[in-house]
Amino acid sequence: METLERQKDYKEALEKAAKQMILIHNVDILVKMILRTVVRTLRLEHVSILVYDKAHDAYVVHSSRGKAGLKIPKGFARITNDNPVIQYFTDHNLQVFGKDYLLFSQLKDSQDVLQQELKNQFLLYNAKACIPGFFRERLVCALFLGEKLEKIDFTSDELGFMSALSSDVVMAIQNANLFQDLNEQLLKNKNLFLQTVFALSSAIEAKDQYMQGHTERVTRYALVIAHNLMRSNQVIVDNLKVIDKVTDADIKKFLENLRISAMLHDIGKIGIPEAILNKKLELNDLEREEIKKHTYIGAKILSEVNEFYEPVLGVKHHHERYDGTGYPEGLAGEKIPFIARIISVADAYDAMTTDRPYRVALTKEKALLIIEAGKSKQFDASIVDAFLLAYKKGEI
Ligand SMILES: [Fe+2]
Repeated sequence: METLERQKDYKEALEKAAKQMILIHNVDILVKMILRTVVRTLRLEHVSILVYDKAHDAYVVHSSRGKAGLKIPKGFARITNDNPVIQYFTDHNLQVFGKDYLLFSQLKDSQDVLQQELKNQFLLYNAKACIPGFFRERLVCALFLGEKLEKIDFTSDELGFMSALSSDVVMAIQNANLFQDLNEQLLKNKNLFLQTVFALSSAIEAKDQYMQGHTERVTRYALVIAHNLMRSNQVIVDNLKVIDKVTDADIKKFLENLRISAMLHDIGKIGIPEAILNKKLELNDLEREEIKKHTYIGAKILSEVNEFYEPVLGVKHHHERYDGTGYPEGLAGEKIPFIARIISVADAYDAMTTDRPYRVALTKEKALLIIEAGKSKQFDASIVDAFLLAYKKGEI
């Protein structure tokens, strides 16, 4: 009766584990969970697992922390296809004890070289049983089970459960690998998309003589402002405090988003007639409304890429004004996305200090005065301060 109860417990624990495993898309986290489940359910001293790594065509060794753990030297974390255990489970001719599992007790001190080598592997992993996991004909993983805490042999039921679990482990590993491949593919696609959009953005500059170099300068100014914000008054850290703690990685990610957003802030001009963009006379109301659409058009183009959530905010809102009189949505104060408030200052300064179809460039000094006067009206005051600081230091 007790055995039956225990079998039921195994079955339930393993079924529960299988359900959770399939939801984990990171191989390392998945492996940790598998090790923990096996050690607890079977009450083992420790367990190790070899997991096939496609990129290196080798098996990576992961081990639970047990009091009688691995005897493998540190750094010996990857094993190749010529390892005797891998050979045993991949070559049908060698499987004298079957292919479902291999027990230490089955291996004799014989003259058989393979058996001797297999025995050495079991000693190395301090294991009593090895359970393979296959996907089609490929060995995806092998679990090395350490001794049970009760120091008794594995029952055939336990070995049967472990075999069942190993096929679930295989599916979960395949699943996690697929997700990782998909993410890498997405990243590649994102880079490809970025290159295309940057090419488009320079195409716009090429057709508009007044835009030449504008994107590059705005990007440089925006990044310089961001760096000065960090040094001067932690504004970046404060603005990013939507999460518990802002890490260096968060700041790096923000600067990367700022770079992308600034480079693409006027990408929407691709949808505005050239005659309006290059008009030498003052624009009429209709034309002005038409030009304002570049914020929406740009946001629409970039919103196709999920990872561009933050850059899109900069593209869409870089013409908002701090006092709420800007466009396209008339947002005010901190309701304007932080990334857009930075680009706004950089964009305005470059627009003022370069020739435009309808006027010549202002001097730097005049432009600085206008920017300063725009504090809390057109611009966020702390961003203007960072901009003026950067200018004083000769960075702009
Ligand atoms: Fe713009």
